[in-house]
Amino acid sequence: MSTTLIQNGTIVSATGRSTGDVLIDGESIAAILAPGQSAGMGIVADRTIDATGKYVVPGGIDAHTHMELPFGGTFASDSFESGTTAAAWGGVTTIVDFAVQRTGEAVQDGLAGWHEKAAGNCAIDYAFHQIIGGVDEDSLKAMTYLVDNEGVTSFKLFMAYPGVFYSDDGQILRAMQNAGESGAMIMMHAENGIAIDVLVAQALARGETDPMFHSLTRPAELEAEATHRAIELSKVAGNVPLYIVHMSASEALEEVAAAQHAGLNVFGETCPQYLYLTLEDQLMQPGFEGAKWVCSTPLRTKHAHHQSDLWKGLRLNELAIVSTDHCPFCMKDQKELGLGNFSAIPNGIGGVEHRMELIYQGVVTGEIGLERWVETCSTTPARMFGLDTKGQIAPGFDADVLIWDPNGTTKIGIDDKHHMNMDHSAYEGFEVDGKVDTVISRGRVIVENDTFSGEAGWGKYVKRGLSQYLH
Ligand code: URP
Ligand code: ZN
Ligand code: ZN
Repeated sequence: MSTTLIQNGTIVSATGRSTGDVLIDGESIAAILAPGQSAGMGIVADRTIDATGKYVVPGGIDAHTHMELPFGGTFASDSFESGTTAAAWGGVTTIVDFAVQRTGEAVQDGLAGWHEKAAGNCAIDYAFHQIIGGVDEDSLKAMTYLVDNEGVTSFKLFMAYPGVFYSDDGQILRAMQNAGESGAMIMMHAENGIAIDVLVAQALARGETDPMFHSLTRPAELEAEATHRAIELSKVAGNVPLYIVHMSASEALEEVAAAQHAGLNVFGETCPQYLYLTLEDQLMQPGFEGAKWVCSTPLRTKHAHHQSDLWKGLRLNELAIVSTDHCPFCMKDQKELGLGNFSAIPNGIGGVEHRMELIYQGVVTGEIGLERWVETCSTTPARMFGLDTKGQIAPGFDADVLIWDPNGTTKIGIDDKHHMNMDHSAYEGFEVDGKVDTVISRGRVIVENDTFSGEAGWGKYVKRGLSQYLH
């Protein structure tokens, strides 16, 4: 087993920072040493990396990705290989992707299908949540089985997308009761899909077909209403842990904050697109351009205070995690399915490569602190989703490390930094401070000197435990 010593960097955790050396032995972190201590101890590592002037942080954990998701008549355009390679370029060392149970399919078959897609193809470690596309006796039993045997301890339900992934309130309650018994986490796509479908039909009947109507027919009130309903259902089910995914609206965030103040096990997630992109600046671009930014929940108006509230929510821990909801579709042949009908545009934005960069920019602009960047992008995702050996630079943890250059800059765009399988970038032209310097996955350097040195198949499936926030 080879050893690596990362010297003289500033080691940043969720709770503080210190100057020191990180000793890696094989796939794990062996020790944190004071600067120079290794020489005194006679330690000669096989490899040394000089991190002077750089931050040494736990590798990013993106707890919300959709590689190859079948959606809107097509498939998300990143395979596990291309998506996890792009993630590595962005300083991410673990993803948690969503296995899908399609309506009518057995949950275990859906999970097996996801293992088939991912096995041998991932450049970084990966784990799965399970989407439950049809709550019934069999899927409820399967949920318990997955928690006990498969390392899948969180389940996503949808209050949106009637006829596709949608669950009604009774199904949601039953799934929550089941999760309460097994200790699992319920993840909720909280939008009132029944009401949204009425607004969509009315808009189309008026000839309102452009991409911007995607947002206008999914008003913030219907995100807040569904969030409130999900919280009430989780309370009725016995204060079952509830994680609201991809939050974009101030009104919904208020519901989460109120639940937290009432002592409920409710957690919030947002994504870079909601912190940086808006209805007016992106979705309302002329012609069909706005299709690039059709995602659900949708981008919100810049004339309200959604973005500043989301940043505040991150500071206050009302929002615990930043994930990407990486669900890329190319414009050609994919987003184009919705030419002349916004409701047929596949929903999703790709961003797995850029989360560390975009959220670090929030550190630069003073929205969050450096430690909070580490916490929301790595340490909390690990703890929230039972990735027990990840998310910290500490002895015994996996040697998943991101060396970050705060003096570098990153230009995002298809002719710049862009390794996702997409014919456009949702963040085209963004220039941000800071840069991925070196990425280490279980002791192996997979990105350095602007070169990818990893390989598809290196990434292992990680069986997850229960959420550490709940025991
Ligand atoms: O637009 C989105 N979010 N697409 C991915 C599926 C989902 O709802 O997370
Ligand atoms: Zn969703
Ligand atoms: Zn998603």
